Amino acid sequence: MKGADERIRPPQGRTGLRQADAPMHENGGSSASAAELEIRARIARHGRIAFAEFMQLALYHPAGGYYSRGGAVGADGDYFTSPSAHPAFGALIAAQLRRMWEILGRPAVFHAVEMGAGSGRLAADVSARAAGLGPDFAAALRYIAIDRSRPVSRGKAPPFHRIAAAGAPLGRVAGCFISNELVDAFPVHRFVTRDGKPREIYVTERRGELVEEPAEPSTPALAQRLDRLPHRLPDGRRGEVNLEIGPWMAEVSEALERGFVVTIDYGRLERELYSETRPRGTLQTYYRHAPGSSPYRRVGCQDITSHADFSEILHQGRRAGLNAVAFASQADYLRMLGIERWIQALRTAPIRQTERHANLMAMRQLVDPSGLGGFNVLVQEKGTGVDDLSSLAPAPGAASPPLLTEEHVPLMEGRYPHAAWELG
Ligand SMILES: C[S@@+](CC[C@H](N)C(=O)[O-])C[C@H]1O[C@@H](n2cnc3c(N)ncnc32)[C@H](O)[C@@H]1O
Repeated sequence: MKGADERIRPPQGRTGLRQADAPMHENGGSSASAAELEIRARIARHGRIAFAEFMQLALYHPAGGYYSRGGAVGADGDYFTSPSAHPAFGALIAAQLRRMWEILGRPAVFHAVEMGAGSGRLAADVSARAAGLGPDFAAALRYIAIDRSRPVSRGKAPPFHRIAAAGAPLGRVAGCFISNELVDAFPVHRFVTRDGKPREIYVTERRGELVEEPAEPSTPALAQRLDRLPHRLPDGRRGEVNLEIGPWMAEVSEALERGFVVTIDYGRLERELYSETRPRGTLQTYYRHAPGSSPYRRVGCQDITSHADFSEILHQGRRAGLNAVAFASQADYLRMLGIERWIQALRTAPIRQTERHANLMAMRQLVDPSGLGGFNVLVQEKGTGVDDLSSLAPAPGAASPPLLTEEHVPLMEGRYPHAAWELG
């Protein structure tokens, strides 16, 4: 997480606990990962590969990709996300799903399909809360947690289904597709503009180093995305184009018979995403909670991410038959779901001071505009008739929020290592 003096700046992307890059082993302390070996082998065969192919291998190579090796959400990992920060996030999403179930006419089966479910933290917190949201809803809810990199759980059966897949191998869903920080993990094409046209950035090898090489785009889709921008990009501008958004929206819409799509991520609309404030684009790496800028270090051992292009999600969603209901900040969305009432309730809850501080801090982080609260939430719908966010507001539910567990990131200890015992 960024320091107090940086709090008015917009979020940089994934949320880490440290402020700046620190000296680290180039490759997480080990020799070249299987992902890097495969990348170098492909470069040897073809001379160069598109950055999107590089990113695909660095994150998802079956043996050596960052996510295939287990990803790294949490205090011991590389970054934290909203579900890992506090269980209130999942509990509020549970209330949202219940409201959506009501809007759909309380069907006997209501699917919540989470794509990019990672460790399953959100799935677990939603399921735990849903059990107390009325027997009919609890019986109707079928939570399916999908992740391309996660094996099906072998331990104690969780209260949700897990599917290891890249996509949504489902059909005729009545319910809700939901994702948190999925789109920012899609491999992106990178470009630099020259003479008014995009040149694609490829990755090649020179004297043993992985380096960039701009050349003719590998696909016309790159220029087609930039042609839809409301403004022309000046020469020298760098950026990313996320070509996985189209197929993803098409697949989700095809699988969704009736219901909603909730996409939560850091990102921007195109006017800001491709503006002069980001002349080098938004690509960023994360390693042990420190942001970095070179994707060619620690290949397969550090996260690589870019801001979600919400204009493209809206555009591709419309093409696929999904109507936009609302586009809000995470802070406004969670307020609509009732987080402020829970923050108030915590102030007087009969719990130890240390616990109160830790819970308040994590819940405030969820709505902090310079932290997770600055993320965006896009709600789309199909066949429900809902066209504004206020229709999605749930009736006030439980008076108090769930409290942090050992499964969540101890943000307070991470930020103020002395605070836990000082306040206790
Ligand atoms: C940044 S992590 C977010 C994990 C989790 N949602 C959270 O908030 O902690 C992104 C996850 O999306 C998964 N993923 C990426 N592309 C996917 C796809 N096409 N289908 C399913 N999962 C995908 C990755 O394997 C990774 O676990």
